[in-house]
Amino acid sequence: MTWLVTGGAGYIGAHVVRSLLQDGDPVVVLDDLSTGDRTRVDPAAVLIEGSVLDRGLVRRVLREHGVTGVVHIAAKKQVGESMADPLLYYRENVEGLIALAESCREKGVDRFVFSSSAATYGLPDVDLVDEDTPGVPLSPYGESKLVGEWLLRHCERAYGMRTMNLRYFNVAGAATPELGDTGVFNLIPMVFERLQAGERARVFGGDYPTPDGTCVRDYVHVADIAAAHRAAARALAGGAPGATYNIGRGEGSSVLDVLRVVGEVTGLDATPEVVERRDGDSARVVAAVDRIRDGLGFTAAHDLRSMVESAWAGWQLRHP
Ligand code: WQD
Repeated sequence: MTWLVTGGAGYIGAHVVRSLLQDGDPVVVLDDLSTGDRTRVDPAAVLIEGSVLDRGLVRRVLREHGVTGVVHIAAKKQVGESMADPLLYYRENVEGLIALAESCREKGVDRFVFSSSAATYGLPDVDLVDEDTPGVPLSPYGESKLVGEWLLRHCERAYGMRTMNLRYFNVAGAATPELGDTGVFNLIPMVFERLQAGERARVFGGDYPTPDGTCVRDYVHVADIAAAHRAAARALAGGAPGATYNIGRGEGSSVLDVLRVVGEVTGLDATPEVVERRDGDSARVVAAVDRIRDGLGFTAAHDLRSMVESAWAGWQLRHP
């Protein structure tokens, strides 16, 4: 197999590229470097700078590199930004996917791994969210991922394309400090930023119906996300049919649980201030992970502490 990884210079993509290279398959990265960074791309992969919306470029890359499968990670991924600029999200995430899928169909590339999200579920009212839990996404971002899954399911039915939809839960950590998340849009980096500035970490709501009153999420190490992509890619290469899988640990951590670990790892005082609830937050979003365990033989290997430790190492590297 030769894999094209879109968004392979980004935080998650760069981890996936490394993981795929472990199987010895050639990997080509397509990234517009809007948020990606060329220094993240493993030198064993070929980097092509450009957008999935550039059909001419995509067709040429598929042909010239003899691509046989695609891992599509390039996308916009900020929920708040998607509320402010929905057209941007529909263009980049939906139109981008259409352009890529059309080029794949034209060139006979029929294996596809799609980066989806727990944001497709919206506000699930269940203890563990399994892949059949009906979801109503709350943002254009979540919608763009669900629409992407629908589109690919039809491509499967109509054109014989096989797709693995991988729904990421709350991704954190880094395989090496250089590969750490540079965005400050999620709990762990947001807390690091405040603590380093001498400010109190903020907890968005302390009166949720959870054991300690704060929201519970399923945090999963980016190295585990990458390992799950590798397992999905291998399954497709081996002839497996398409499927939809959660990638999580199946274990919930509250905001206060995370802050406790942040305090231990950083040695900083992580005693938070509790502020207003944030719009659109669900009390609890934790993955059911049986399907990916049974279907791909995948189980997450890293715990919350390893996520916080590796995220902190990356943070310190960039904010000395
Ligand atoms: C986690 C928890 C906050 C910051 C989002 C997307 C989801 C996925 C991951 C891409 C929540 C609380 C946060 C802070 C806090 N993205 N929090 N204080 O909202 O679960 O998921 O990112 O696919 O689709 O929706 O992640 O990291 O923003 O928040 O109390 O300073 O931490 O309220 O409960 P979220 P998050």
